[in-house]
Amino acid sequence: MTKTIAVTGAAGQIGYALLFRLAAGAVYGDEPVRLRLLEIPPALPALEGVVMELDDCAFNTLAAVDITDDPRTAFDGADAALLVGARPRAKGMERADLLEANGAIFSAQGKALGEVAGSDIRVVVTGNPANTNALIASTHAPDIPAARFTALTRLDHNRALAQLAARAQVPVSTIEHLAIWGNHSASQYPDATRATAGGRRVLDIIDDEAWVREHFIPTVAQRGAAIIAARGASSAASAANATIEHLRDWVHGTSGQWVSMAVPSNGEYGVPEGLISSFPCTVAGGEHRIVEGLEIDTFSQARIDASVAELAEEREATRALGLL
Ligand code: NAD
Ligand code: LMR
Repeated sequence: MTKTIAVTGAAGQIGYALLFRLAAGAVYGDEPVRLRLLEIPPALPALEGVVMELDDCAFNTLAAVDITDDPRTAFDGADAALLVGARPRAKGMERADLLEANGAIFSAQGKALGEVAGSDIRVVVTGNPANTNALIASTHAPDIPAARFTALTRLDHNRALAQLAARAQVPVSTIEHLAIWGNHSASQYPDATRATAGGRRVLDIIDDEAWVREHFIPTVAQRGAAIIAARGASSAASAANATIEHLRDWVHGTSGQWVSMAVPSNGEYGVPEGLISSFPCTVAGGEHRIVEGLEIDTFSQARIDASVAELAEEREATRALGLL
């Protein structure tokens, strides 16, 4: 059966790295895919050019492409919605200005999702501030279960995997039990305390506690800023790749492997209920589950609490703006 994937901000740089892989079957394999692409009116002509290129790939799996500036049209009957489009931080903009500008976008899109999408839609928010944007969208779609709204921390997870694999000199594919906790921001906590490679504890292989605290954690947490400094634009191909992996694993499951996803808290690990925070998760039967019962050491708990405090502040600031 044809799967419908809605993508917002489709003419942006992440969109350009995302659409061709979605069309080629990166999430649903051989099943035909219909893309519904949402943009603001000034970006529609550029989006038409991207659609011409999609046509020119003649993908077997691409059943149709629709473009629109109306979120209700984009989300109608969608199986998945990838909310990538967001207002970037402009010069002189304060954090509150960014929350306000994006709050308006994500409340309107949440409302549209609530009006036209099925209750089994999967929503992945990539546009920043991703966790709080997901919370805003979810709040405006009360008939869709909150668990259907998630935010992207898979990019942080992949960044952490790459750093650990390089330092421990093990293949990336052998590393398990890594986790990103908290907000997709510099306050996040990349947690390698339980990571193993081929059954061995990765931190025992590395055997350098200072490296973890002074290099690994800050490198992962500040990688987005480092890429902006180097490229003059934020990460795009790696963000698109992570968005695909997040949705693909949510649809197909993780076979018991941990992945990092920002999902609504039910109070696990002291994270206030309702905040959309990153946790180690597994997916089975199309449902994500937070890995429970882990013993958290004092250092890790303090790092988790600090990032979660930032999420709580974002929620308060958003409430003060009347967006929740
Ligand atoms: P971009 O500026 O190239 O593209 C954003 C697109 O969104 C633009 O084409 C714009 O017209 C569109 N847009 C703006 N408002 C919209 C609306 N109301 N409806 C539909 N489309 C709208 O930006 P990008 O590089 O593609 O990044 C997109 C977002 O992803 C940014 O917020 C960025 O910070 C974020 N990001 C998140 C992660 C992550 O890991 N969560 C990683 C990288 C980037
Ligand atoms: C990233 O992690 O690469 C982005 O979220 C950075 C940004 O601010 O766009």
